[in-house]
Amino acid sequence: MARLQSCPPLAIQSGHDGWLYDDTGRRYFDSVSSWWVNILGHTNKRITDAIVEQANRLSHVMLGGCTHEPAVELSERLAARTSNNLGHVFFASDGSSAVEIALKQCFHSKAAQGEGSRNRFACLKNSYHGETIGALSVTDVPLFQNSYRALLNDTYIVEAPDSRKENEDVALEALRTLLESHGNEIAALTIEPRVQCGGGMTMHSPEYLRRVRQITRDHGVYLIADEIAVGCGRTGTFFAWEQVSKTDWPDIILLSKGITGGNLPLSIVLSSDEIFDSFLSDDFTKGFLHSHSYTGNPIACAAANVVLDHFDEGLTSDIAEQAKHLANAFSRFHDDPRVLNMRQCGMILAFEIKNPSDHFAERFHMRGREHEILTRPIGNTVYLIPPYVLSEELAEFLADAIAFCIDDVSD
Ligand SMILES: Cc1ncc(COP(=O)(O)O)c(C=O)c1O
Repeated sequence: MARLQSCPPLAIQSGHDGWLYDDTGRRYFDSVSSWWVNILGHTNKRITDAIVEQANRLSHVMLGGCTHEPAVELSERLAARTSNNLGHVFFASDGSSAVEIALKQCFHSKAAQGEGSRNRFACLKNSYHGETIGALSVTDVPLFQNSYRALLNDTYIVEAPDSRKENEDVALEALRTLLESHGNEIAALTIEPRVQCGGGMTMHSPEYLRRVRQITRDHGVYLIADEIAVGCGRTGTFFAWEQVSKTDWPDIILLSKGITGGNLPLSIVLSSDEIFDSFLSDDFTKGFLHSHSYTGNPIACAAANVVLDHFDEGLTSDIAEQAKHLANAFSRFHDDPRVLNMRQCGMILAFEIKNPSDHFAERFHMRGREHEILTRPIGNTVYLIPPYVLSEELAEFLADAIAFCIDDVSD
């Protein structure tokens, strides 16, 4: 109760570009893109127009036995972005349900190939893949898991790479050792390419991922790249995996969050021919029987197609420019003794506060409100995941606001 009083919810009435406005008219820059979804700014007119137009034409139809243009167009455009290496698309509504689908597909596909004993999964330490039971089982954040331990599957958790520890070789060796001893029990490894976001914005190199791809393949373990947070340009390329290879892809990539620009719930599971083919049969019972009522909702797909239009028009170049603005504005903290481990990957910037006060995250957030910025530190990790609307001035504004918060809150 005390927490509710010290940190009451903000009553937001409207949003435009990077800004949110509350019911008293105060504004806040959404430096976390409202849980990392709002990549093109709030109330993006092109998306709103597409939503209205689609809603007036066809608002929903089941994808069981029916299909529609927005879903087909979106599927083809996403598959093309993987050069059709991941040419099969399954739709759901949120990130966690995409993770559930990927886990089921991997287990079922292996079973269909005579490897039903691969009924376990592996994930990295500190990984976050969502909070439904399957997704929570491949998550390693005790805060979210502890109350549900008895319900969770037994997952292998392996050392995670972390640029702060320079431990990629150690992490790779741990993965190799795990798969050598238990690889034949494991259907898939889940991984957040380039940045483990929910686990505290820890970063690793494309080279680490390249080697993970090889090790998992050597042991017949599928690789699920969860790009729910890091996809859609967040790390600088449309798929984070493009930084690893444009020819050697994981077995599955997941998207959600930014794919509709933060307008409507939609998630996507892109999978390989091998996985798709293992369900291809005239025997209905051998298919991948999984559905959600709103699977492939046309309005959500129409919004996603506008997001892809932005990328087709060169959004990744704008993102590169904006990432530079962010780096320049925050370079002032490099010599600040209160700030540790400043790191950046595309439009994700994060650092730790050396001596955080009690209730640091909450206090920092409240101070941010006073300085017109919406922030949500994870423990003592402060991070920025802004919408792709940053001018040099806005980046400086963010650095000023964060500097005020650090002055106010650190001991
Ligand atoms: C990497 C990753 N996977 C999965 C999820 C779960 O997505 P959702 O909250 O839409 O269920 C999240 C959410 O933050 C995420 O960051």
